[in-house]
Formats: sequence, structure tokens, C-alpha cells
Amino acid sequence: MKLPPPVTMIIFGATGDLARRKLLPALFRLKTLGILPECFNIVGVAGREMDDDAFRDFVRNSIEEHTKEPDMRSLYQFLASVCFISMDFNDRDAYSKLYRRIDYIDKRCNYPVKIFYLATPPDYFSRIVRHLHSAGLTRRGDPARRIIVEKPFGKDLASARKLNRLILRYFREEELYRIDHYLGKETVQNILFFRFANGIYEPLWNEKYIDHVQITVAEREGIGERGKYFDSAGILRDMVQNHVIQLLTLIAMEPPVNLEPSTIRAKKIELLEAIRPIREEEVDRFCVRGQYGSLVVDGQRIPAYREERDVRPRSTTETFCALKLFIDNWRWAGVPFYLRTGKRLKKRVTELSIFYREVPHCLFRELGECPGSNVLILRIQPDEGISFSFNIKEPATAHKIDTVRMDFYYKNSYSVELPLPYERLLYDVMIADQTLFPHSEEIEKAWKLFDPVLKRWQAPAPGFPNYQPFSWGPREADDFIRRDGRMWRNP
Ligand code: BG6
Repeated sequence: MKLPPPVTMIIFGATGDLARRKLLPALFRLKTLGILPECFNIVGVAGREMDDDAFRDFVRNSIEEHTKEPDMRSLYQFLASVCFISMDFNDRDAYSKLYRRIDYIDKRCNYPVKIFYLATPPDYFSRIVRHLHSAGLTRRGDPARRIIVEKPFGKDLASARKLNRLILRYFREEELYRIDHYLGKETVQNILFFRFANGIYEPLWNEKYIDHVQITVAEREGIGERGKYFDSAGILRDMVQNHVIQLLTLIAMEPPVNLEPSTIRAKKIELLEAIRPIREEEVDRFCVRGQYGSLVVDGQRIPAYREERDVRPRSTTETFCALKLFIDNWRWAGVPFYLRTGKRLKKRVTELSIFYREVPHCLFRELGECPGSNVLILRIQPDEGISFSFNIKEPATAHKIDTVRMDFYYKNSYSVELPLPYERLLYDVMIADQTLFPHSEEIEKAWKLFDPVLKRWQAPAPGFPNYQPFSWGPREADDFIRRDGRMWRNP
């Protein structure tokens, strides 16, 4: 892997949960892998009162907590590159203090690339960008600066457009990196490799051979401490508009002619354009929403969503949703894509399942058996791997058909640890590779698709809560797919 140029990373929200659990450990891992540049500095920025040493302690704890046996030499070197500025993000004047600190590093390190990372709640994004500009930190034409924006990128089409417009006033699209950590997952990146590095699947990757596709992103956890954010967002905004739709674009996009970031992004945008919009009056036909109730397990009570901290007691925010989408192009005409995601489901699993059409003529009908369809499963997490199921004659029976699987598990074939999403994404920002970051058009097109659903779901949800923790979601979601003569694959 090539070594990035010198970098100063300015992390807004440096004492927050994301920085502590993901960003700092990921940067440290890059350090131990030897792929941080010689001159690398982190300027932590947050409202908390703290000096450089106290922040170093914070960084050290975060790394020790999230790294198996950290290498001490690398850790000391890493800590030496860290400093901190305590400031109110809303205070315009405070940014001159930040300017001076960055300027000092600039001179010492011969003007490194400046990467501003907005790891704060989204309410601060626009103010930080404006104040960075007023302080002279976003001068146009200066090639050595980039900005990373965490999700959620907007809460609907209008707000996403507004945010895009604002940031693009001060940064160019090529300098703007919107994080969707799913794209940093090794197994998600593998979707394109699997599709386009094998001659056998692509000819069958279309409506002639595929009956339908299912994407399941299930989590066992509830919303934990994130009630305040989640209750105003809901699972459609939190997971579908970004992660799930990104999985869909990768599984369904046309082959790019090369691996240039702009070529891949263009193919994804084209695919998003082909997704048939769901009109507000059709939402109930194409979408199901749910919210988890409470449950007692082994004497321990699992609280209902409405009882979680910072959630309104009569909240109608959805913690589960299932959707059916169609892609109106030659490849996918008439093939339904069923998407489903939820909190407090049976198990943590992310899978893409391609269901092939059944055989055109069932030779075995007279024997009372007809084979089920072949299914190709790309398992994103956990137990990362790929499986293919097919039918055989069950041995030692007269005419029984059995379904068996060919399985590939990363862990059986490779001893390397799969890199963490943020590790890959942060490295890519440093080397200015935008392949794994959604373009503004992708973001806006995805919001456009879901705006009518969000609008419809502002209406009361009388049946809530409608599913039990640790189930596969509400009964309506099963009925919804059963009406089409299909069933969810519950791994
Ligand atoms: C985040 C969502 O983007 O992704 C969370 O905000 C969710 O609600 C998380 O839990 C899931 O990520 P992963 O990598 O654990 O599947």
C-alpha cells in the first residue's frame, strides 16, 4: 500500500464516542501497519475542557481499550503526534485559535494535507464549515485540504441538498468525503470483485435467471444510549437510505469499464436513477414498518423501544422496516428486491441473497418432489463468506431431493484479520481515493426515493409496538412477502 503524503487530521468531536471507539483505534492501526506518513498529526477539537496531556490520556485509553496488545513503541510515537483544542464549535472567534495551531504544524511539516473530520452531531456541520471558512481555513484553490462528513447526511432530500450546497461552496466535490462505513467493510468491497472477477455469475445476473433478491441487515442490539438521535431518525434514515441502498447499488449496478472512482460512482448513480419511486399513496403496499416491544428473558426484562432512554413514551418511530423495490432497466425488469433491517431482531446478520428462478419444468413432480430454487448468499457479517445452495438426490432414498450448500468462509481460507471499515476509509481519504464514498448525487437520489415513505410514516402507527425482541420482526413483514408467494430467508 502506498504511503500517504504528510497529513494533519483535525477531528471535530474528538472526545466523542465515534472518535473513541472507531477513529482513534483505526488511525493507530494504520500506524502499526506502517502506512501513516512520517509527518502525521492529529488536532483533536471538542467542547470539553482538556489540555494536550489529558487528551493524550484519552487517546491512549481509547487505543488500549480497542486494540489487542498495542505495540508500545508505536503507541508513544502516535501519542506524540496528538494535540487538543478545547472550543465551542459555535464560537466563530475560537477558530482563530485553531488556525494558529494548524499554521504552526503547517510550517513545521512543510504544509501537509489538511483533513477536517466532522465527527460531531449533524446540527454542527454547517456552522463548523462556515466558521472554518471565515477563519481562512478553507481557501479555495489550496489543493491540500479535504473534509470528511459523518452520517447522517441530511434528514431528507431538502436538508441533504442544503448541506451539499453549503459544503460545496467551500470545498470541491473531489475534496468532500461522506462516510458510509458499510463501504469500508471488506466483504462489501468484495461484492464488485465477486461479480466482475468471475465469468460464471455475471451472465446469469439478470431477470432471465434471477427470481428475486433479498437484503437483510439485522441487529440484535436495541438503540442503547442513542435514543435522542434515533427517535428523530428511525431505521429508514439510519440504515436504509445509506447502508442498505449502497448494498443494493453494488449488487445491481451495471459493470463499470474501469475502476476509476468516477466510473464506479456514475454506474451507481445510474442504478439509483432506475429504481422505481414509491409514491406516497403506494407506501403501504411496498413498505412495512415496525417497532419493538418488551420481553422477559430468563427473568430479565428487555425494555420496549418506547421505554428506552430519551425516547418519547408514545413514539411512532420505526425500529424495523421492510421494503420492496423494482429497478426499471433491462437487467432487472420485474425482479423484486426485498430489503429489511431492524433493531432487536433474532440475530446480528447482514446478507445479500440472490434467489435464482426455479427449473422451467419439474421433472420430479410425479415423484412428489420439486426442487427449490438455487440461492447464492453473500454474507457480509458475521461469519463473512459466500454460500451457494443447490439440489441433489438424497443418497439412499428412492427419489428424495435434498438441498445442500457449498460454503466459503474467509476465516477458513485466510489467517489475516479483516481490516476495520474506518481503517480503510481513513487511509483512502489520505490518498485521495473517493471510490468508497458516496457522491452528492447518490445521496440526493437516495433521499428522493425515501422522502414519500418518510412522509407517509408521519401518520400514526396504531399497532405499535408490533414485534417482539429477538424475533424476525412484525408479522406484517412475513405477510408482505408471502403475498408475492415468497418467504424471507431467516439465516
Ligand atoms: C450505523 C447506525 O450507521 O450502523 C447504527 O447508525 C447501526 O444504528 C450501525 O447500529 C450498524 O453498523 P455495523 O457495522 O455494526 O453493522
